[in-house]
Amino acid sequence: MEYKRYTITSALPYANGPLHIGHIAGAYLPADLYVRYLRLRGRDVVWVCGSDEHGAAITLRAKKEGISPREIIDRYHTLNQETFARFGISFDYYHRTSEPLHHETSQGFFTTLYEKGEFIEQTTEQFFDEEYQQFLADRYVMGTCPVCSYEAAYGDQCEKCGSSLNPTDLINPVSTLSGKTPVLRETRHWYLPLDKYQPWLEEWLLEGKKGIWKNNVYGQCSSWLKAGLQPRSMTRDLDWGVDVPLPDTEGKKLYVWLDAPIGYVSSTRQWALENGKDWELYWKEQADPADNSRLIHFIGKDNIVFHCIIFPAILHTHGGYLVPDNVPANEFLNLEGDKMSTSRNYAVWLHEFLDEFPGKEDVLRYALCAIMPENKDADFTWKDFQARNNNELAAILGNFVNRVMVLTNKFFDGVVPEPVGIREHTSAIAAYQEVQGHIAKIEEALENFRFRDAQAEFINIARVGNRFLTEQEPWKKIKTDPEAVKPVMWSCLEIIGAIATLSKIFLPFTAPRIFDLLQLDPERYTWDHAAGKAGDGFLVPPGHQIKTGKNLPVLFEQIPDEVIQVQLDKLAATHAPASEGSAWPPVKEEISFDDFQKMDIRIGTILEAQKVPKADKLLQFKVDTGVDVRTIVSGVAKYFAPEDLVGKQVPVLINLAPRKIRGVVSQGMILFAEGSDGHLYRMSPAQETESGAAVN
Ligand code: 2FM
Ligand code: ZN
Repeated sequence: MEYKRYTITSALPYANGPLHIGHIAGAYLPADLYVRYLRLRGRDVVWVCGSDEHGAAITLRAKKEGISPREIIDRYHTLNQETFARFGISFDYYHRTSEPLHHETSQGFFTTLYEKGEFIEQTTEQFFDEEYQQFLADRYVMGTCPVCSYEAAYGDQCEKCGSSLNPTDLINPVSTLSGKTPVLRETRHWYLPLDKYQPWLEEWLLEGKKGIWKNNVYGQCSSWLKAGLQPRSMTRDLDWGVDVPLPDTEGKKLYVWLDAPIGYVSSTRQWALENGKDWELYWKEQADPADNSRLIHFIGKDNIVFHCIIFPAILHTHGGYLVPDNVPANEFLNLEGDKMSTSRNYAVWLHEFLDEFPGKEDVLRYALCAIMPENKDADFTWKDFQARNNNELAAILGNFVNRVMVLTNKFFDGVVPEPVGIREHTSAIAAYQEVQGHIAKIEEALENFRFRDAQAEFINIARVGNRFLTEQEPWKKIKTDPEAVKPVMWSCLEIIGAIATLSKIFLPFTAPRIFDLLQLDPERYTWDHAAGKAGDGFLVPPGHQIKTGKNLPVLFEQIPDEVIQVQLDKLAATHAPASEGSAWPPVKEEISFDDFQKMDIRIGTILEAQKVPKADKLLQFKVDTGVDVRTIVSGVAKYFAPEDLVGKQVPVLINLAPRKIRGVVSQGMILFAEGSDGHLYRMSPAQETESGAAVN
C-alpha cells in the first residue's frame, strides 16, 4: 500500500557517551536505508531523532565526573550529531530534549492526560538517601536481583537476567550516591493505568499486527500482554528533566515514557518550524484515514516494550495521534564474539572509525548492513569487514564498474555506443531482465524492512554485470565484429546506471563517485530510472561522453591485513584485563578524579606493633600519622613479625571510617601491595619522609 506520508523515528540516544557500531546497526543504519529508499521514490517523508538529555544515566555520570549535566549533554550532543552526519546518517532533524519546545510538548501530553483524568495519583514509600536528602529513582539504587541473585542489579532493571524491577524489589539495596542503605519515605506520583488499555492493546497489537510485525518484536509484546499490564508511574523524584506541570510538585519530573519518545514529536515540530511544514500532518489522524502518515519506529530490542506498548498507549489515550504502523526493532550486535561494553571501552566507536578510516564510510555501512541483527543477535568481526570490502565491494562492484569504464574508453574513447540490435540481443535482454528481477526483490525487501536481503540483491546486480561481460568477451569481439560490441557495452553502462542510482540507498558516499565516472547528474536519477519505469529507459544515453583518462579512480581499494591487525590489537588491549587466565583481578569500575581526591593518604611511622590476642591473623599498630598518633588493626600477621615493622614508614589511609575489629577500634588502614598469590609486601617511601606527608 502506498501511504501519503511517512514519519520515521530512530531511538533518541542518551547524550552521555559516544556512539558505537552496535547503536548504528540497531536503530540508525536501517532507518537511513529505508528513508533513502523512500526519498529515492519521491515519497513525502520526515525522519526525526535527537539527543535524549535526561535520565539518571546522565545525572549519575555528571556526578561521577564532578561536572554539571549540562556539560555532559552539550559535549555528547555535539559529538553524536557530528558523528551521525559524518557517517551519512541523514536525519531530517536532530533535536534535543533539553530544548524548551520539547519541555512544552512533553508537558502538553501530561496535561492532556491529567485533564482527561487518566492518571492515578498515588502516594507510596520509596527509597530515600538521608545523607543526600534525595529520593532514589531507578538507577540511583543498586542491590541484589530477586530473580537471578546478581549483586549489581539496578533499581529499574537487572542487566544480567534482563528482569525489569522496581527499586524496592532489590535485596540489600544500596544508594549509588552515598553507598548507604536507603530508608523508605512517602512520595506522591502519577501512574498511567496500563491495565486499563490492555483490551485496546490486545486488539490493536495482538490481533492487528500478527504476522505483520517481526517475530522478535511481536513475541516480546505478546508475552508482556499475556503477563498482564500494571499501572506505571509517569513521574519521578529527580532534579534534572521536564518538570511535572502541576502546582506543588517541586523536585518531580516526567519519567522517560513521557519524555524521550515525545522527543520525536518535538523534533518534528522544530523541523516543521524551520522548513515551513505542518507537523500535524505527520503525527495526527487525518479526517480521511487514507491521508494518514505511516509512523515507523526504528529501535533496538531493549526499547521494544517502550515503543510497542507504553508509547502507543499514551498516543492512543491522548487521542488524535497516530500509533505506529510498524516497529522493526533489531537485536544486538556483538563484537568479535563478545558483548560490546561502554564501561569496559569494548566497542568500535564510530567517531574513532571515521578518524582512522577516512573515505571508508560506505565500507562500514555495507559491512554492518550485511550482518544486521534483524532477527537474532549478530557478530561484527574485523575479518568480515575486510572480506566484505575486498571480496564484494572491490572484487565485484568496483571491479565491474572499472572494467566497463576502461573498455568503453578503449573501444569508443569514452563515448556511450548506440545499442545497435539490442532488441534481438537475447543475452543482453536476459541480463537486463535479471537485473530488473533483483531490483524487484530489493523493493520487496526494503518495503518489509529486510535490509540484509535488499543489499544482497543490490550486489547481485554487479554480479550479473560481471558475468555478462565475461560471457560476451568484448575484448575478443572487438577485433572480429566491432558492431557487436556496441550493445554489450551499452548494456553494461545501463547496469552501472542502475547501480549508481541504487547506491544512493546502499552506498551514499560512493554514489556520486559512480555518477562522476558516468559524468551524469546524481540528482536527476530516481528509483523509477533504476526500475526501468522512467520513460525511455535509457539511464546512460548513447552518444554521451563518460569520464576519460588513464587513471580512472578506483571505487574500493583492497584493505590489507596490517590495517585489520591494528584494530584487533586495539581491541585486545582494551579487552585484556578481563581475559581468562590472568592472575590479576579485573580493573575496577572507573572513578572520577573527585573520587580519588576523597582519599586522604599520608606517610605514617609505625611506633608500636603487637599481635591481637586470640586473633592469629591480626596485628595492632600505633602509628604516627603526622596529624595524630592512632591505633590501626590489619590482617597481616601471616606475613610480618611485629618487631620487623616497628620504625618503618608506610602509607596510611587516614580518613577511612573507624571500624571495630575484634573489640579494637581501628582508625585507618595501612596500605600494602598484594601479590598474585595473595602475599603481602610492605611499601615504604624510597627515602626517609616526614610523617604526615600526603600521598597523591
Ligand atoms: O534507551 C535509550 O537509549 C533511551 N535514550 C530511549 C530511547 S527511545 C526513545 F527515544 F524513545
Ligand atoms: Zn537478574
